[in-house]
Amino acid sequence: MDRTDALRLEHVRRQQRRHQNSGELARLRREMDKTLRPPGVHPDRSLGITRRTFLHRSLLTGAVAGAAAYGWFPLLNTIELAYGAETFSFAWISDTHLYPKEVNTRFVEKAVRAVKEVQAMQPPADFLIFGGDLAQLGDPVELQLGNEILKELTITKYFIPGEHDWYLDMGATWEKLFGTSPWSFDHKGVRFIGLDTISHAPDYWSAKKMTPKERMAHMATLDSSVAGAWAAVGREQLTWLDRTLSDWPKDRPVVIFSHNPLYEYYPPWNFWVRDWREVHEVLRPFTNVTNIHGHVHQVLYNEIGTLRSIGMLATSWPWPYAPEGVPPLTIPMVRVDPGDPFDGVGWGKMTVRQGERVDYEYMMWRQDVLATAPWDAGTGDNINQILSPRLADRMWPYQ
Ligand SMILES: [Fe+2]
Ligand SMILES: [Fe+2]
Repeated sequence: MDRTDALRLEHVRRQQRRHQNSGELARLRREMDKTLRPPGVHPDRSLGITRRTFLHRSLLTGAVAGAAAYGWFPLLNTIELAYGAETFSFAWISDTHLYPKEVNTRFVEKAVRAVKEVQAMQPPADFLIFGGDLAQLGDPVELQLGNEILKELTITKYFIPGEHDWYLDMGATWEKLFGTSPWSFDHKGVRFIGLDTISHAPDYWSAKKMTPKERMAHMATLDSSVAGAWAAVGREQLTWLDRTLSDWPKDRPVVIFSHNPLYEYYPPWNFWVRDWREVHEVLRPFTNVTNIHGHVHQVLYNEIGTLRSIGMLATSWPWPYAPEGVPPLTIPMVRVDPGDPFDGVGWGKMTVRQGERVDYEYMMWRQDVLATAPWDAGTGDNINQILSPRLADRMWPYQ
């Protein structure tokens, strides 16, 4: 076989693999639809996210001038999160992806800004969740830098790890600085749970004799070319989750923080957990569960059965939407200006009001966050990308 034949053969093999993979994805989504959406079980159609989002935007227009004093513009997304016994707020920061300062400081500046803004919240947030990917390459220097930045924030802080924090030393520095996961606590009528969805990768490094740095480098890619389907909750943690929820009334609010989404959004980028079936099995009896997750670096909203999931902004950079599989309830974020490093990124604020619906705000550092027309999102033309709904969602009309 000459070189041209070898290249041709490799091309054919690659095409075959691609077809196999997309067939597998379609099979998975059909299974998801069958498992999670049995006849008669509907997502909460009363949520009306589109309408409420715009209502909240218009109501907040008058508040922008006041907020501008802090240098940011709170706008955006109002959704039902949970019912709490008292009014309180909490904040979320994730995906800061810090490099050592001598490499660059562009992500450091954004992390510092987010921390300052959370610290300036009035009334103060009850606590902060840090949702993972504090570091870029798991370097102890990066993690220590993140620790220093977050120390400026004096409210209670809870941490869950991201894959970028973990795979250089398999979580040793992370756990020394920020403790272990999972954890749970009750606060003003809500049970909060933090999961570790990143430390359960199958061992892809030993057979290939990778160094810790090589292992980490493979984890730092979006398409997981070597690591494969690494995101998972894991059997032990599922048992823990089941046990932790066993004494909690089925109709009381549960908020679960995880780095990766707890449903299947786009497996080729690990925008999922591979044991989503078991996760949903454990959560199925509960009627008010909200999953708040990082990792996707973009505005996302999804409902499966009684579980609602919210994708949070990163402070570092925004990812594009996956080429397919974006949940239909998502209102895409506005297309980011590549000349503005503070665009398309930010943090999140949740306010739980007594007996009322809860406001969730994407604290993006620009005025318009959600795209009201496809061309504003970069999702409506052939040059950028066309978002197509998940196969399962095409079979399930939301609107
Ligand atoms: Fe990230
Ligand atoms: Fe991540």
